[in-house]
Amino acid sequence: MKTQVVIVGAGPSGLLLGQLLGRAGIDTVILERSTREHVLGRIRAGVLERGTVRLLEEAGCADRLHREGQIHHGVELAFDNERLRLDLAALTGGAHVTVYGQTEVTRDLMEARAAAGWPTVFEAADVRIEDAATTRPRVSFEQEGVRHEVACDFVAACDGYHGVGRRSVPAEALRTFERVYPFGWLGLLADAPPAAEELVYANHPRGFALASMRSATRSRYYVQVSLDERVEDWSDDRFYRELRARLPADLAAAVTPSPSIEKSIAPLRSFVAEPMRFGRLFLAGDAAHIVPPTGAKGLNLALGDVHYLTEGFVAHYREGSDAELDAYSARALARVWKAERFSWWMTSVLHRFPDMDAFAQRMQRAEFDHLTAVPSAAVNLAENYVGLPF
Ligand code: FAD
Ligand code: DHB
Repeated sequence: MKTQVVIVGAGPSGLLLGQLLGRAGIDTVILERSTREHVLGRIRAGVLERGTVRLLEEAGCADRLHREGQIHHGVELAFDNERLRLDLAALTGGAHVTVYGQTEVTRDLMEARAAAGWPTVFEAADVRIEDAATTRPRVSFEQEGVRHEVACDFVAACDGYHGVGRRSVPAEALRTFERVYPFGWLGLLADAPPAAEELVYANHPRGFALASMRSATRSRYYVQVSLDERVEDWSDDRFYRELRARLPADLAAAVTPSPSIEKSIAPLRSFVAEPMRFGRLFLAGDAAHIVPPTGAKGLNLALGDVHYLTEGFVAHYREGSDAELDAYSARALARVWKAERFSWWMTSVLHRFPDMDAFAQRMQRAEFDHLTAVPSAAVNLAENYVGLPF
């Protein structure tokens, strides 16, 4: 088999890249380790920046998003019983975010790829990337016990944090930066009207909580838990009691405790690998960087990389210029570090850390008061929340 770009991973990054390249007339093969159902079963992000929506429009995959997604003009922070609403539209000159699940984004992209007839290999086991440092890379994989090989011009590793892409780069060619947080998020999805019309991020002495949603009839909630917690020990009833204890009283009263459709724990981590390129192998999305979920940047950041990488491949094939591909890592990383800063700051301000003393708690409170009192502080948060330009 031969193609122009092999894409490893059929998550949102890999699928969007495949769609944008396909529409530019560039051939791709996507190799995905899991089944289609497994990829679509993962409940993750829910908040899309305006730039992300624009990219999905460019990919021709935004019709359902525009029909079913919810536009949010504001977001709330809560400290104990106090609530602060940030009017995103007023603070940013009219910008908003769109609530539409990552699962739906992935489904729309998968359907568009299938309709176009571009190849995706699901259950591609033991993917190996060879000769990335040469002009003739090869990617091989196993299916039903048989090894196959795809020769290509480039490899795009869109295979997430645990993927093979970053591991295929020699250790001495990468520098990594990491912070592991001493807690995780326990998330619960339920078919019930959300407690509030907009998202509420809550700092509470018992720990962080987030009231989010997927639609007018589907709620998504999170509570901070310590790393040794196990999801089996959290009945729905225990979850809702803990959630309500952490939310402001009026909001807690509005939570409808319906049976969970999904419940899982995600650890929190900040991580960046530099550079995002080795020879003809390019890293994009979670394969290159992770942000803690506070602030909803992960998916959006991943798709921002795809935008820069698409420009690089299009310039290579259309104009014979490699300037954009050569600039890819630096352009992407400039945006990545800004999102890392924002996500780290949101995480630091909103969570209860095990070693927090009274001073650290007052610093969190001072951040909240600063946001309430100083318009430029609120503008800064709002601009980051709706997404920095690319
Ligand atoms: P992934 O989604 O991880 O996709 C990688 C794909 O590659 C997977 O399908 C995987 O099966 C495949 N793969 C892996 N290894 C291999 C291999 N060896 N061979 C072949 N295929 C392979 N982000 C936001 O922007 N907003 C939010 O509100 C938000 N909330 C989140 C909440 C939670 C609980 C979590 C866990 C994450 C959240 N994120 C959020 C982050 C977001 O989900 C990720 O940043 C996003 O999924 C990254 O997309 P990706 O395509 O780069 O990687
Ligand atoms: C969701 C996840 C986030 O990380 C976030 O900041 C906001 C919303 C969600 O899954 O709904």
